[in-house]
Amino acid sequence: MILPIELVDLGYIIASILFIYGLKMLSQPTKARLGNGVSFLGMLVAIVVTLLSQGLDFSWIIVGVVIGSLLGLVSALKVKMTAMPEMVALFNGSGGLASVLVGYISFHQGADMSTASLIAIGVTVVIGGVCFSGSLVAFGKLAEKLTDKPVLFTGQQVVNVLILLGIVVGTVLFVISPSVENQYLIIYGVIFLALVLGIMSVLAIGGADMPVVIALLNSYSGLAACGAGFVIVNKVLIVSGALVGASGLILTNIMCKGMNRSLANVLFSGFGSATPAASGGGSEQGEVRASSLQDVYYVLEAARSVVLVPGYGMAVAQAQHAVRELGDILEANGTEVKYAIHPVAGRMPGHMNVLLAEANVPYEQLFEMDDVNPTINTVDVCIVIGANDVVNPSAREDKSSPIYGMPIINVDYARTVYVLKRSMNAGFAGIQNPLFFKENTRMVFGDAKATMQGLIAEFKE
Ligand code: TAP
Repeated sequence: MILPIELVDLGYIIASILFIYGLKMLSQPTKARLGNGVSFLGMLVAIVVTLLSQGLDFSWIIVGVVIGSLLGLVSALKVKMTAMPEMVALFNGSGGLASVLVGYISFHQGADMSTASLIAIGVTVVIGGVCFSGSLVAFGKLAEKLTDKPVLFTGQQVVNVLILLGIVVGTVLFVISPSVENQYLIIYGVIFLALVLGIMSVLAIGGADMPVVIALLNSYSGLAACGAGFVIVNKVLIVSGALVGASGLILTNIMCKGMNRSLANVLFSGFGSATPAASGGGSEQGEVRASSLQDVYYVLEAARSVVLVPGYGMAVAQAQHAVRELGDILEANGTEVKYAIHPVAGRMPGHMNVLLAEANVPYEQLFEMDDVNPTINTVDVCIVIGANDVVNPSAREDKSSPIYGMPIINVDYARTVYVLKRSMNAGFAGIQNPLFFKENTRMVFGDAKATMQGLIAEFKE
């Protein structure tokens, strides 16, 4: 059965609308699951319509669908929440590789190609190639199979610029070359250089900046798919590729803003390569006061308002369920409880939201940094659970600090602050935190989950 072109176009319009609605829903926690389902439906419509749009032999397609679905299903069931960025990296890489293949095969099969088609093929294989190899390196770093420190060497930027120049010149030659034999040679060269550029650019980035890079690579995979859409003249591929490209860029921008760093700084500064000592991480700035669980219990028992501020350490300790249990106990005790979420707390976008949602923290108790900060000076107690950089007052006060200008949750303005962490070690930025030495701060040393469970036990006694 071959669908008439009008029905194919109608199917593509429906699929595009479903993608857009699905994306919109993803921005609200309560509708995110439904949004995922709506986008899935859009993709199903797009695939079925495409398969029925021309008289295809389905035998190999079915083999591909079965293998792909099995791989996707098994990995989706097995992946741990903390390994999500690795999985996304592999997805991005697969998208990039698919675009390279579509571009190359279209060239290989095409006769008398127009200049526009050749440009589309050139752009698609370049972006797809960078995305594929860059995503593999990102996966390697996140899965700790490669070093998570930035790999830097003298003249690195010059080498990268030369590779980029080679790619641009190669792509132009590919488009204008009158000889097909030469075009074959050139496209191999361009794909090779794109793969090298992907590796070089991601190797230079520190492991903890990888979430930003993953969002950027996600955007590249969308742009490559969009290019592939132009190559094979498929409208829904152009639309969906453009949506992924744009949303990846928006997410990258949100993350950079949350850290108050430019994208260039993330990509080229080798952030995270400095040792904590070199960036002041080791120097103490006054007296540290530690509290026992019992002391914390007495204060919490009498507190009228408590703000819980989770960070990367909560994810490491997997303390989210215990945190929620303590939040519930405090509420039952008549305390107003809020969870304050910094946009870049943790190591991936929405990291804290996902963990707290997993622990069934009610959405109405989750507050963004900008909603909590204006009234934080009226709060009795802030409990900082494995967060460090996102509550570091240097970002507000110390112009020489590498994180100066990054918006933070102003926990130091609350009457009392308890900081739950294992040691005086620095966080991701590798710098000292003056919060730990403030008059109203008390450190509660230990694994965040164990500390939370200890506090719960105090209340239960
Ligand atoms: P960090 O500044 O990285 O601090 C986390 C703290 O958790 C550490 O100081 C560590 O101290 C503590 N910790 C680790 N394991 C713990 C455990 N089991 N129990 C208790 N505490 C534990 O985290 P943050 O405040 O969430 O800030 C996030 C940082 O990552 C920011 O600098 C941000 O710019 C960066 N970043 C974020 C993203 C996204 S999208 N979220 C992307 C890239 C970079 P101890 O070792 O002493 O326990």
